[in-house]
Amino acid sequence: MTYRVIPLVQAGVGTVDTGGTGTSVQSLPAGAVRAPDMAEASAANMTHVANMAPRDVRGRMLHDLRISVTDRCNFRCTYCMPKTVFGRDYPFLPRAEILAFDEIVRVAKIFSQLGVRKIRLTGGEPLLRRNIEHLIEMLAAIPGLELTLTTNGSLLAKKAQSLRDAGLQRVTVSLDALDDSTFRKMNDVDFPVAEVLRGIDVAATVGLPVKVNMVVKGGTNDHAIVPMARYFHGSGHILRFIEYMDVGSSNGWKLDEVVPSAEVVRRIASELPLQAIDPNYVGEVAERWRYRDGGGEIGVISSVTQAFCSTCTRVRLSTDGSLYTCLFAQQGHDLRAMLRSDCSDEAIIASLQAMWRVRSDNYSERRNANTPGLQKIEMSYIGG
Ligand code: GTP
Ligand code: 5AD
Ligand code: SF4
Ligand code: SF4
Repeated sequence: MTYRVIPLVQAGVGTVDTGGTGTSVQSLPAGAVRAPDMAEASAANMTHVANMAPRDVRGRMLHDLRISVTDRCNFRCTYCMPKTVFGRDYPFLPRAEILAFDEIVRVAKIFSQLGVRKIRLTGGEPLLRRNIEHLIEMLAAIPGLELTLTTNGSLLAKKAQSLRDAGLQRVTVSLDALDDSTFRKMNDVDFPVAEVLRGIDVAATVGLPVKVNMVVKGGTNDHAIVPMARYFHGSGHILRFIEYMDVGSSNGWKLDEVVPSAEVVRRIASELPLQAIDPNYVGEVAERWRYRDGGGEIGVISSVTQAFCSTCTRVRLSTDGSLYTCLFAQQGHDLRAMLRSDCSDEAIIASLQAMWRVRSDNYSERRNANTPGLQKIEMSYIGG
């Protein structure tokens, strides 16, 4: 699948916006900064970043960078990579088009200068990318970044320890049901749920905090809402329920298959009483609820019934190096061309600032009967 990509407008070094201070763009301190230098370096860097961080037309900053490291997945979830579209002959990206680790790290460093504070590795299935631990190690050396990853959990039991050792800070596991038959039906490759549950246990054992994401599709897995809540109640893991979305153009989304978050909360609260709690930070995607009995918290992600575009601070990097300023974007910005030319970091920074400043994305606020039919990027390509 080829998506529409427009060039990132190449801006000259002279146009890098340093907030009127007239200083030139500096590199972040490299990798291993000695502990005593850290506070000083980071204070200086914070001031510098404040000067460089762009805001979009709605005043939104850049905070999260989501990096898709592969467009392949070993699952064929019916709502994401239906076999009818992602069959044997599907043209996944050839290796030459995929960003190399050093290119990804360069992008991450550049974005951290523009205000990004969280990096999430996604896919497809990120644990399929060869030597992913090495990439994690390189990213973990960039100061001031939270580093996490979203996985389907199939390889987690095997990889949790090495991911943790490499510097991953936490992990989010997608899990749509607890009963084996629903789970196998939804992943459509007959993968057993027990192996994902084992992956979650191993991740927790090696010290990785775990969140669990369940996409709720009415009539398919909504019977699993309460069992999932009961299973993770008291486990210390945060279970989040995601409204089924019209991402991409191949999942045949219908509005009547969306189970509104309010209904999810109602069903759980009727068995396990809940109380709403404040977000951890402005722009948090999930709305938080705590169990009144002290059994932990859950989250609901309501992209369909309660759009959260007004605080959206996310940018997405595809496996082949295009940038998307919205999950529902119809076109990307070709960063790879700049990375593979002789562009300086300063020139790339100026282009990214320019790209972000004109951003006005708000798809979820505009969703209507016609918008699902638009030609949008696939979730497996951009990582959710
Ligand atoms: P935390 O750092 O754990 O709070 O992560 P997060 O909630 O930012 O990330 P996560 O990948 O766990 O997000 C959960 C799901 O919410 C994604 O898989 C998407 O389905 C959905 N989601 C995340 N960001 C966006 C967004 O910007 N727009 C929309 N429409 N949905 C989003
Ligand atoms: N609607 C909502 N969430 C989705 N995901 C994939 N496709 C959809 C969809 N159509 C979720 C996955 C995973 C994350 C990467 O995105 O389940 O948790
Ligand atoms: Fe399923 Fe995630 Fe793979 Fe999509 S990328 S098919 S949601 S496991
Ligand atoms: Fe952000 Fe686009 Fe999602 Fe709105 S629809 S929250 S702008 S990614």
